[in-house]
Amino acid sequence: ENAALLKAIIENAIDGIITINSHGIIESINPAACNLFQYSPGEVIGKNVSVLMPPPDKDLHDGYINRYQNTGKAHIIGFGREVKGLKKDGSVFPFRLGVSEVQFSGRKIYTGFIHDLTREKEAEERLKDYA
Ligand code: HEM
Repeated sequence: ENAALLKAIIENAIDGIITINSHGIIESINPAACNLFQYSPGEVIGKNVSVLMPPPDKDLHDGYINRYQNTGKAHIIGFGREVKGLKKDGSVFPFRLGVSEVQFSGRKIYTGFIHDLTREKEAEERLKDYA
């Protein structure tokens, strides 16, 4: 069945996938995202996605979503961006964030795609040492 296939794809995706509602509240998180951020689904579902980011974005993210919903001007949707995530243990890591907007059964949700860049950034730093 189609829904079961989609679930299997999301559950086994290499990249993290998180969905939020129009208020920034986390509605779903896949195992890859749980591993990256070190949370179980039950610890973050129902919480604001801002718990997964360090300042200053943590305190500004509701405003980002509101600004987008009021102006229609996207800064990440359709472009993607490199941002910083905050793990449960307090450490910060770089990742590539893609966001898409989904109209789902009459309401708006956002899907975030999280591609960890920790290893790429470490390699970049090592190369700088040779320069
Ligand atoms: C906008 C940071 C996670 C949904 C933004 C912006 C930044 C940002 C910097 C644009 C600010 C601007 O220039 O106006 C972060 C960080 C995250 C994160 C650091 C780390 C966890 C997420 C996730 C989702 C999401 C997981 C969706 C599931 C959005 C939406 C917008 C936005 C809907 C407004 C639309 C747009 O500007 O294109 N976020 N975000 N964010 N973010 Fe996040």
